[in-house]
Amino acid sequence: MLTQTNHRETYRFVPSTSTPVSPGRVAELLKAEWELFTKQTGKSAQESRRALKSLPLGVTSSFQHWDPYPISIVSAKGAWMTDVDGRQLLDLSMGFGAMLAGHLNPVIVEEVKKALETGTLFVTPSPISTDAAERICRRFGIDQVRFTNSGTESTMYAVRTARAATDKNAVVKIEGGYHGSYDPLVVSTKPPLDKIGDPNNPIPYTPNGIVPGEMHVVPYNNAEALEQTFKKHASSIACFILEPVLENIGIVLPDEGYLERVRELCDEYNVVLIFDEVKTGLTAGHQGAAQRLGVTPDLITLAKSIGGGLTLAAFGGKKKYMDFVTNGKMAHFGTFNGNPLAMAGVRAADVIFTHDSLVKAEKFNQQALERINAIIEQYQLPAHTVGFGVKGCITWSTEPVRNYRDYKATDFAIAELSWLWSLNRGIMTPPGLDEQWLISLAHGQKEVDILVEDFESFAKALRS
Ligand SMILES: Cc1ncc(COP(=O)(O)O)c(C=O)c1O
Repeated sequence: MLTQTNHRETYRFVPSTSTPVSPGRVAELLKAEWELFTKQTGKSAQESRRALKSLPLGVTSSFQHWDPYPISIVSAKGAWMTDVDGRQLLDLSMGFGAMLAGHLNPVIVEEVKKALETGTLFVTPSPISTDAAERICRRFGIDQVRFTNSGTESTMYAVRTARAATDKNAVVKIEGGYHGSYDPLVVSTKPPLDKIGDPNNPIPYTPNGIVPGEMHVVPYNNAEALEQTFKKHASSIACFILEPVLENIGIVLPDEGYLERVRELCDEYNVVLIFDEVKTGLTAGHQGAAQRLGVTPDLITLAKSIGGGLTLAAFGGKKKYMDFVTNGKMAHFGTFNGNPLAMAGVRAADVIFTHDSLVKAEKFNQQALERINAIIEQYQLPAHTVGFGVKGCITWSTEPVRNYRDYKATDFAIAELSWLWSLNRGIMTPPGLDEQWLISLAHGQKEVDILVEDFESFAKALRS
């Protein structure tokens, strides 16, 4: 039984009673729903067959793939997308957070059009890059920032900065945590349970082809395990990287006091603390998760929401660490870094994402969570809800999920069915079963009603 409570700025509701769902009923519905999927998506199937010839898995990022084939989209506006079969789909994925402003948000379109008239790439300093950097530093409370083109690059450079600053090389990460594709950070991303040993002292799992260097892996929400790791290996550990709220295995919230203890331990053992805010970022609130949760990292990585949907990411933090970029001990280059179109995206996003606009979206999210709670209780479903900022998810477990091992014990069959049920009824959430919905600035009452009513129809079907 859980004794810890989650951080006060986060949301979780676990009902006190529930009744199991029959696995037979889930299997029966899954079969029917996959048949319905194929019936409704002939042109996506056709498109996928064509794409498979030129693109591995028929997609441009393996996240986009699912079996038998993913939905192919031709356009998107506001909170809605149109697929190749001509269906209108409610987008609740919103580019994993990158589309927080809504598709084709007029302020962003206008600002990018203006930038297009001045040029697409200078590879020189430009006032528009300085303007974007100042906006990011001000908003996230950091001294300095450098722009990159992807979250993967940002987490890689943050780790290298920590290495340069400490003259140490080892990295500590969270079991189950995702930070993109840089070798050390791929370790134990979604490791197989039979290879990772003791939950309190996990064995790092390195997939084929990855050359990580010295890596240590700790369970989330377990400050004692972190302390033990620091005690044994502090002389070689450069940094500890984590998402302040895990958002790649549903949403996993920090226990009250956990992040504060992490901060203390990093200070005590001279380990650079990196918060990966690629996913949380502005979806956590108008100044990001770190400020909302009240714990200051040494370095922060940003992407997705900060650029209004343009290709952009960043890493930054305290000057004493960014000085290692200045003095060249951590070399940072990139042809497309700070290109004018992405910088225009930052400028527009900074205008749009005010405290008030994000609070309004968060209220819609809260409403969705509370109405879904009522349905979970009414139908006695073995599930609970979790929310942070404008994101929410339904976790198919009667116990709170506090780390990767808890997440692995949730019911993946119902999660798959719930995702597919919504997809067949015009609601698009990410395919991974480990993601969450996002209420963007373009979502309103109508969209929240659709989300909630769809879940009610699903609850009815499960119990009929
Ligand atoms: C927390 C986190 N960090 C890093 C990344 C990598 O970002 P990108 O896909 O832009 O390389 C992701 C991607 O989803 C992420 O969720």
